[in-house]
Parts: sequence; C-alpha cells; structure tokens
Amino acid sequence: MSVLAIPRAFSGRRLYTMRALNHDPLSALTAASRSGERVWLEIGPYRVLLLSGPDDIEEVLVRQNRRFVKGRTLQHARPLLGDGLLTSEGDVWRRDRRLAQPAFHRDRVHAMGQTIVDQTIRAAGRWRDGDVRDMAEEMMRLSFAIATDTLFGAALDDQADTVRANLTTAMRHVNGRVKTLLRLPPWLPTPDMRRFQAAVRELDAVVHHIIRTRQQDGAEHDDVLALLMGASDQEGRGLTERELRDEVMTLLIAGHETTATLMAWTWLLLDRHPAVRRRLDQELRRAPNQAPVTADRVADLPYTRAVISEALRLYPPAWIINRAAIAPFDLIPHKLPAGTQVLISPYVVHRDPRFFPDPEVFSPERWLEDGPKTLHPFAYIPFGGGPRLCIGRPMALLEASLILATLGRSWHFALVPGHPVETEPLITLRPRHGIRMTFRAAAV
Ligand code: HEM
Repeated sequence: MSVLAIPRAFSGRRLYTMRALNHDPLSALTAASRSGERVWLEIGPYRVLLLSGPDDIEEVLVRQNRRFVKGRTLQHARPLLGDGLLTSEGDVWRRDRRLAQPAFHRDRVHAMGQTIVDQTIRAAGRWRDGDVRDMAEEMMRLSFAIATDTLFGAALDDQADTVRANLTTAMRHVNGRVKTLLRLPPWLPTPDMRRFQAAVRELDAVVHHIIRTRQQDGAEHDDVLALLMGASDQEGRGLTERELRDEVMTLLIAGHETTATLMAWTWLLLDRHPAVRRRLDQELRRAPNQAPVTADRVADLPYTRAVISEALRLYPPAWIINRAAIAPFDLIPHKLPAGTQVLISPYVVHRDPRFFPDPEVFSPERWLEDGPKTLHPFAYIPFGGGPRLCIGRPMALLEASLILATLGRSWHFALVPGHPVETEPLITLRPRHGIRMTFRAAAV
C-alpha cells in the first residue's frame, strides 16, 4: 500500500482552492464533492481532505476512529467549551461519556416528554394570532427552556435572549478564526477577541448560576447535572469546578442550539410546501381527543417523524464534522499520514443524488416505512456516527417531534413576504437573517 503525502494524494483529483469557502461554503463544498468522493481542499495555508463517500465516512467515524481526534474547527471553540464531552479526547472523554450516558437512556428521555410539551404550550401561550416574530429566536427560546429544565432542572427563561446573543457572537468569532488566514494569537486584544471574551464571560455566568443553584438546593434530582455532580472516581474524587463548568457549558450549548435550528428550518420548509403541511395536519387531526401529544404517542405519528428526518437531511444543523488523524490511516488503496485533516459534511452527503433522488426536493415521503431501504447508514449522518455519535440524539428526536406535533395542531406559520432567507454556516447551520413569520392560531 502506498503512503500518500499531502497534497499529492489521489492524483488526478482536482485540488480545490477554497476561496469560495469564505463566501458560500455550502455550495463550494458541494461542488468540490461532485468531482470525487475524496478531494483535497486548499484552505488558506491548510490542506484538508473532504470525504463524501459513505464507506470512507464509516472508516473515519467508526472503523478507524481511534486514529482520529476532533479537528481544528472544534479546537477553536475550546475557549468557550473547554474540555467537555464534545471536545475532550481519550480517557477524559471516555469518563465523561460514561458519566453522562445514563441521562440519555430511553426511559430517562421518555420521561422528558412531559416537560417538553409543557414548555412548548407555555411558549405558545405568549403568542397571539397575527404576531410577526422571528421563528429562529422563538425556537431558540423554547429549546433553551427545555434544555435547562430537563438537563439541569433550572428555570432560566429570562436568560434565553442573553444566551442567544452571546452564542451568536462566540460562534461568529470561532468561525472567523477557523477561516482567517491572519492567525493572531488569542491573547491579542483585538475588538473581535474582546467581544468574544465578554460573550464567554456572560455565558460562564449562566453556567455558574446553574451550578450554584443546584449546590444550594438540598433536593434529590434525577438529571444529567445530578449525575455529573455526584460522580466520583475510584479515589472518591469528583469533577473539579472547571470540569463541571465545561460539561455544563457543552450540554447547555449542544443541547439547545442544534434542535432550535432544526425547528426553525422545519417551519420554513412546511410553509414552502403546502402539500406536506396538509398531510401533516391530517395526521395530527387523527391524534385522539386533541389532548396534548405525549412521548407515548410519537410512535403513532410516522409522518411527523418523517418531516423531522427530511428537515434534518436538507438542513443538518451540524453541517460539518472535522477530524484530525493522529496516526496513519487507510483509505484503500491509499495510506494517509498522521496530521491529515478530514472534513465530512452531512449537508453535502445528504444532497448527493446517488443516495437521495431529487435531492433538493423536500419529500418526507422518502422516510415512510423507515426510509430508503437501500440507504447506506453513512449516507445519512445528521448526528454523526461511531463512538462520538451525538449523545443527545434520542432527546433531540423526541423533542423535535413533540414540538412539531404540539404547535402544528394549533398554529400555522407563514414567511413574511420578501424576508431574505439565507444559510449561515457557523458551527451550526443557522438562518443568517432569522426567519420572520406571521403566526396564525389555526385549530387543526
Ligand atoms: C437536532 C439536534 C442535534 C443535532 C443535529 C446534533 C448533532 C450532533 C453531531 C453531528 C455530533 C457529532 C459531532 C462529531 O462527531 O464531531 C454531536 C455530538 C454531541 N451532541 Fe448533538 N446534536 C443534536 C442535539 C443534541 C442534544 C439535544 C444534546 C444534549 C442534550 C447534544 C449533545 C451532544 C454532545 C454532548 C455531543 C458530543 C458527544 C461525544 O463526543 O461523546 N446534541 N451532535
């Protein structure tokens, strides 16, 4: 097997200079992927390997996962996330995952259903027929309330807007650092760096409030925060203050931002596709007695779940997954060196016509009866895969279905004519200008 040196690997493949990445990364990556499943991209001073074939993706995420660590993108988010479950590696990651996993087991997630529905009904209670609101903001407020309540038993509704604003500042900064060629040292007090540090401080204050409140209340809890705070190793040592801060910050951010973004895109897609909306309404109308939908009933709402699967296909909130090789790895017939940066884009793979006919068409029907029978499991990866598969997947899927079913029964949302809709690929795939919609109370 030949050892391939960067950048001459896969000779014959075009080496893409990704200036376009700054302007329109989604189209640039899609175009690059169409020229081959393995493509070298030149991004400023770096060469990265874009992998778009499901077999290769499975090699990296599953079979050879021990030869990789999280890549450069997430490293830039470390000043914000610290060394939590999303960013940690090796033994620390294994310990964190083992600690947090029980909080996401089926029964525990099922038990979150009631809170999810209650919070959704509460959020809608603030809306009036005819309101014009930014759906992205509303969904962020809602999923923030759900995450803080279910994960940390905390009521922090008044903090939702501060968190959203600071998270936007922080994510734009991280993205800027990933893209910029001029890599200034992090201690240089540029205005952007100062804004970022201020945003992290504000987010830190929210996290510390969550931890302090729990430390002061003597009650028994059964959530992920209780697991983290009750953890101790063989010597009886618990997590340090810093470790606890990093885990809570990670779960706080990962636990609401992605689901909120998914829901914002979902409502837009439903507005743009009235036939889909009608079919969803039919299913929701059949749900018994107009009583609130519960976690038990979600299995009886196949079309609702299909709408979520399809929205996750077209607008995967985690649109890019990045790995760095720490050992040589094999992509038959080649061997690639340690140090190789690998990019995998769910957005790009999900729009590949080889796996999804008419890939640009929003068609929940493709997911009925459990989806395309012949689909390679790594052609659809909204939650990643392998050992680093999203820990919150069951929660996200339940939450999205319950929000959709609960609000879908009594509200219709219509995009305000002329409102610009554009993707903003930060760490998550956000709508750049929000999604301004008219809220119509409409009993289904
Ligand atoms: C639609 C919603 C969501 C999407 C699309 C999503 C997507 C992802 C993806 C793609 C990864 C893997 C990243 C990688 O391999 O580099 C991931 C990891 C993770 N997600 Fe999610 N996520 C969602 C919701 C959630 C929720 C609700 C939580 C927590 C309550 C959560 C917590 C995490 C954590 C902690 C990790 C790191 C897991 C590890 O490395 O062990 N996510 N997520």
